[in-house]
Amino acid sequence: MGSTDGLRCFCPEEAQWFEVHRAIADGFGMVSMGDDLGARDHLRPEQRRLALADTTHDDQPIVGGAFAYEFQMSVPGGACVPVAGLGGVSISPVAQGQGGLSMLINAHLQQSINAGDAASVLMASESGLYQRYGYGVATEMAEWHLNTRESTLQCPVSDEIAIRLIHDRSQAVEMLQRIYESAVSARQGGIHRSAQWWPMVLNDDDQSWFGCGPEFVAVAFAEGNLPCGYALYKLRGNTGTESGHGRINQQVIVSEIAAINVESELALFSYLSRLAMVRKLVWSVAPTDPLVRHFMRDPRQLWQHARTDMMWLRPLDLPALFGSIEYPEEGEVLIDYCDPQFDSLCQVWRLSVHGGRAVVEKSDRSVLTADNHVAMDSAALGTLILGTSRAVELASVGKVVGSDGAVRCFDRLFRFDKTPYNQTKF
Ligand SMILES: CC(C)(COP(=O)(O)OP(=O)(O)OC[C@H]1O[C@@H](n2cnc3c(N)ncnc32)[C@H](O)[C@@H]1OP(=O)(O)O)[C@@H](O)C(=O)NCCC(=O)NCCS
Repeated sequence: MGSTDGLRCFCPEEAQWFEVHRAIADGFGMVSMGDDLGARDHLRPEQRRLALADTTHDDQPIVGGAFAYEFQMSVPGGACVPVAGLGGVSISPVAQGQGGLSMLINAHLQQSINAGDAASVLMASESGLYQRYGYGVATEMAEWHLNTRESTLQCPVSDEIAIRLIHDRSQAVEMLQRIYESAVSARQGGIHRSAQWWPMVLNDDDQSWFGCGPEFVAVAFAEGNLPCGYALYKLRGNTGTESGHGRINQQVIVSEIAAINVESELALFSYLSRLAMVRKLVWSVAPTDPLVRHFMRDPRQLWQHARTDMMWLRPLDLPALFGSIEYPEEGEVLIDYCDPQFDSLCQVWRLSVHGGRAVVEKSDRSVLTADNHVAMDSAALGTLILGTSRAVELASVGKVVGSDGAVRCFDRLFRFDKTPYNQTKF
């Protein structure tokens, strides 16, 4: 799959997988691998795994690796496309700085192209790593804080919504899955979760990258006993003194809220902010623009404590991506597209949108004139395609180049009602 003077990249056999895991853990600075090996391997297909071997030693020890999940990602309009979720990219400290990352990414992208993925997506440990490989920020997340005793909601919460705590995990998974899927379809960028994924989120045994360990599951029910939203949360903090009796100052840490409509989101938020003993709510993985912020009686008591990139996207199959989106406007634009790694993907595309749907055709460079197209690379498209950034903004900083008319047309086509959001960590 690729080699340099000192490293070789290949798809490992099952028997080598333990050694790959060990090298991945070494790269991430984890002395113990915990229960990661085996517990999640069924979600990482063998043909999507990668290893790096050090060829300067006779026994060619494994010094790095990566794997990918097979996901479906929602796009504007509610359809979904297959994407590869790259994870575990890591190289042992003894082999870093020798081009291993580039080898892993190139091999992963080739595997994804072979598998017919519309894009590769990932969550970056460091945000300076992936733009050079054609990834752009596709979704962002925020952490919101609320002083619960200082603020109430402006409007009364619907009496028709009741909140219940669900302690039976298998009953909870069924309800949560249905609510989550409906929320994901309503907003682009969400990663659908398979039934196998849920036990990692609702895991009472350990806190991990995928889930927060033991948490309360609060489910909102609409009239007719229909589950319409949920929140996962736990309480944290101290009770004021060592003896456990004193000035109570707890926080409620909310790891997830999903709701099928704003009424359900408000009902859950109201419930969370009125919990006994709690003075502060921390919504740790949240959209940058939750609707609840429009309903605060004292809006400044709810503030965005942090905001960061969440999921990066690297386009691979442009007709599949463009063709699955429902567009808010009509128009036609020529895109002179540049891919940093694959010459075969550098192409001129004609995007003609009518009735919300696009016809996507390859075109010839000879049709390009100074004022009829936009030019961009895959990292720029990765951040534009779901609507995270606007084309006019990227044009103002030279990341998109083109005539004013073509840039504005692209901008209108990719300006969606909702900002993209994904709350699945992978
Ligand atoms: C990230 C990691 C895989 C990079 O490994 P590496 O062996 O240094 O990678 P390479 O030698 O192939 O470097 C490729 C390029 O990335 C750059 N790079 C490496 N680490 C970087 C960092 N932390 N930030 C920005 N750029 C970085 C290199 O300078 C090089 O750039 P160039 O092509 O312009 O010369 C390695 O540091 C690691 O395993 N880190 C711990 C685990 C981790 O964070 N993994 C990423 C998970 S998303």
